[in-house]
Amino acid sequence: MRNSKVPVVTIDGPSGSGKGTVAALLAREFDWQLLDSGALYRLTGLAASNHGVAFDDEASLEVLAEHLDVQFEPIDDGLKTILEGEEVGALLRTEEVGAMASQVAVLPGVRRALLKRQQSFACAPGLIADGRDMGTVVFPDAPVKVYLTASADTRAKRRQNQLQEKGIDANFDRLLADIMARDDRDMNRAVAPLKPAENAIVLDSTRLSIQEVFNKVVDAMRQQGLI
Ligand code: DC
Repeated sequence: MRNSKVPVVTIDGPSGSGKGTVAALLAREFDWQLLDSGALYRLTGLAASNHGVAFDDEASLEVLAEHLDVQFEPIDDGLKTILEGEEVGALLRTEEVGAMASQVAVLPGVRRALLKRQQSFACAPGLIADGRDMGTVVFPDAPVKVYLTASADTRAKRRQNQLQEKGIDANFDRLLADIMARDDRDMNRAVAPLKPAENAIVLDSTRLSIQEVFNKVVDAMRQQGLI
């Protein structure tokens, strides 16, 4: 069971808002645990695809999510992700797997199956939890909740730059359409839709640098006496 005394900082927001980067920086700065909850949905989508399970077969997907055979092994610059014995880190970050994740994430059975696994990341000295429903559903009593957003154009541009750095030429309009489709699915689903928690600090990274976002979260952590 989750230890409610462990301080949790939740960072929710749409894909490409920079929340993953900020969450990783915060975890490294304070040596806290890091939960990348999107990775669990991505792993479930990937496992479903590997096993030929249809994305609307909720009962089978729930069982798959409950029994995900996954290991996170620390390496120099982060974590190595191993699904059923295979290294899947790079594959997991692709748009294709992101879309799979967003489809399985609409199913209440899948969300139920992943809930306890996510809550078990709350271990001393503290947890930075990155996702869509960290502040609203998974850690509703977190003392610091952040909702980080950015315009869809900015997020598509960032994604295009990331891909270009890897030598991949991606079409901007296609990326923008993918981002908007994913936003629509994540924000309008019936269960745990993406929205700011009532008491969340809302930040817009369209005009803030990652360092500025980081500083604002650190200020909030200090105000709450977490650091
Ligand atoms: O953060 P990400 O891009 O890795 O997330 C991939 C998908 O997983 C996202 O489109 C929606 C889903 N997701 C979710 O529903 N709830 C979370 N807490 C995290 C991710």
